[in-house]
Amino acid sequence: MFPRCGLVNRLSCFFSPSSRSISSIATSEPSGPSMRTTSVPGQNSKWLKAKMEALHVSQISRPALALFPRSDFVDSLERTFGCVAPKGMKAVQTMADGSSANENAIKAAFIWYMTQRRGGNPPDAEHLSSCMKHRQPGTPKLSVLSFDGGFHGRTLGLLTVTRSKPIHKVDVPAFDWPVAKFPRYKYPLDQNTKQNETIDNECLDDVKQKIEEWKAKGEEVAAIIVEPIQAEGGDHYGSPAFFRGLQQIAKKNGIVFIVDEVQTGGGATGDYWAHSHWNLPFPPGRGLGTFAAVDFPTPELRDKLVATAANNGLLVGGCGDNGLRFRPALIFEKKHLEIAFDLLDKSLKQI
Ligand SMILES: Cc1ncc(COP(=O)(O)O)c(C=O)c1O
Repeated sequence: MFPRCGLVNRLSCFFSPSSRSISSIATSEPSGPSMRTTSVPGQNSKWLKAKMEALHVSQISRPALALFPRSDFVDSLERTFGCVAPKGMKAVQTMADGSSANENAIKAAFIWYMTQRRGGNPPDAEHLSSCMKHRQPGTPKLSVLSFDGGFHGRTLGLLTVTRSKPIHKVDVPAFDWPVAKFPRYKYPLDQNTKQNETIDNECLDDVKQKIEEWKAKGEEVAAIIVEPIQAEGGDHYGSPAFFRGLQQIAKKNGIVFIVDEVQTGGGATGDYWAHSHWNLPFPPGRGLGTFAAVDFPTPELRDKLVATAANNGLLVGGCGDNGLRFRPALIFEKKHLEIAFDLLDKSLKQI
């Protein structure tokens, strides 16, 4: 009944102890709290608190900065986000949430694209007056290419590039922008290399075709937006070769390449940014770092497992039509895996 995927099996073998019940794991738990510090808060907490206070004021309350950011704002951005900036990126701009970040990335892409068209010049009087009437050249006819199954946010603009579930989009007007196919690989990857290469090429051809179609309509593609792993849409992966091909197409056509790491960034895939993996050999199996998923035969069975697991104390999520996704926290240890597998086994037997 349960579609145990290779990844789960591999993890299970790797960590398989002689006995894996919650009681056997919990034997080393202390019987009660014990005080190990001379003062509360302890030295480390005080040190951390002092560090966080400086950060808190300038970063966490960033939306309130408006036109008068603190004088140490730029410096604190460099010391914090600057340390984990993707290779080759020198600037960072914080936004209120993932949707605002994507909206802003798309706006920046349009502005960059139009500046290129004007030979690097700023908008002139004609641009400034025509944009107030939503006419060209101030309001250009441009588009953004996104992918079938992608999720980028629920704001008015982003709903056009979000294509994961009808419930997000229904009743809301959208731009007429192109959507291309995103790979749906056959697993296990190492036994389907040729077929998956063909899938990559079909998707890249689809991208090229859509770029040409929209160009012919007079609505050039100014940006491509893509997730490294289509998370909300079902944990669908693209190979490094696919993404390298995509970037090449974007570069060749003078199109901005936007990688939406709202869900994959921050270390969950084993590197700070998922796109850092694109130059490395792809790990076999449907998983990257702490991202892991399996498919169920039907959405109903998947939903039943999610509900049963929740009742048993295991939080797992549904994604896409019939995917079950695991999103362990970064503090996840072997003992947590054992507990999770116990609860998963128990839940599977109950559905
Ligand atoms: C890939 C991706 N992009 C964008 C968003 C939107 O982020 P937010 O909900 O913070 O606006 C999400 C949210 O789940 C996401 O998964």
